[in-house]
Amino acid sequence: MEAKKSFQLANNTHLCLSQDFILPKEKRPCLSHVSPMHSSLSIIDLKGYDDDECKNGLVQDISKACKQLGMFQVINHGVPHDICQTLMVTLHEFFQLPSEERALFFTQDHSESVKIFNYYFKCDDQRKVTMWSETFSHPWHPTQDFTHHLPNNPPQYREVFSAYAKEIGTLMNRLLRLMSQGLGLEEDSLVKRLEDRPNFYSQANYYPPCPEPELTMGLNEHNDITALTILQQFDGVSGLQVKYDGKWIQVDPIPGALVIILADQMQVLSNGMYKSPVHRAVTNKRKPRLSLAMFYAPNDETMIGPIEKLMNGGYPPIYRSYKYKDYMEEYYRQEGKCRKVKEVFE
Ligand code: SIN
Ligand code: FE2
Repeated sequence: MEAKKSFQLANNTHLCLSQDFILPKEKRPCLSHVSPMHSSLSIIDLKGYDDDECKNGLVQDISKACKQLGMFQVINHGVPHDICQTLMVTLHEFFQLPSEERALFFTQDHSESVKIFNYYFKCDDQRKVTMWSETFSHPWHPTQDFTHHLPNNPPQYREVFSAYAKEIGTLMNRLLRLMSQGLGLEEDSLVKRLEDRPNFYSQANYYPPCPEPELTMGLNEHNDITALTILQQFDGVSGLQVKYDGKWIQVDPIPGALVIILADQMQVLSNGMYKSPVHRAVTNKRKPRLSLAMFYAPNDETMIGPIEKLMNGGYPPIYRSYKYKDYMEEYYRQEGKCRKVKEVFE
């Protein structure tokens, strides 16, 4: 029953706040304490990627952003604006489909690869608080292996998603090369560490307007556990926040920009030089919000550990090496309390 209630969030226009969504006092977002977006969140122009002279500056800027916050926005990233827009409009239409139709994808089994899922937060007294969001996830590469599992309504979904995925793949590759160079490594170092059958999956997040944003959360605070995330925020509606120096900062959408979020495996591979930031999504009273995260994750069997060359010059490894599946197992065992996971792997 609990799941059903939250599942009907997306296209329900008469929403009321049941107890299921109300966070305990100490977990509420305290929106009046959140700082507006400021310069620690860089906006990096990728226009100079193909120009050898500009590229050095770009590597420095990316390296600085990855070391300081682990999150930045990119403009002139090469993903055509019309593809971004068409996909977000299509996703919006998907979340407005009648709940009977969306129910085909609904599951409470997180291991399903194509799924509508409602996240929840488990309180100390074991009470589950449902997040004020509905998420839709599926793999995004290689497209031919899963396209037939994707929605055929809206009718353009499969085609538009594939076009976006192809562009995001190119951008991910570029970013990984710049990030490698930003660590003083060969440009293919990170790609090589992750290239053995990586997992590519996406998560669209739909947050309906919420009558009580101070009592609820869109997605609870977390680190991304994968390697890298490219996030699109749609239609100028804010909600993403990142923790920096113990404070929450708003990450406002910039027209045409994509948000780059470094994830836990990047922090480990870089031996702690790059950061995997804690972030969350809050709700608002006025407008629905839609975001789309494209994740790049290692294969379950891939060994992750600090890159050897980063230990030259007397830097000891601050993390041990492990199989990615062991990291995930530990993460889910601790129900997403990922700060502790980092300690376990140190
Ligand atoms: C996420 O952390 O994947 C989603 C954040 C957002 O909706 O902006
Ligand atoms: Fe995230």
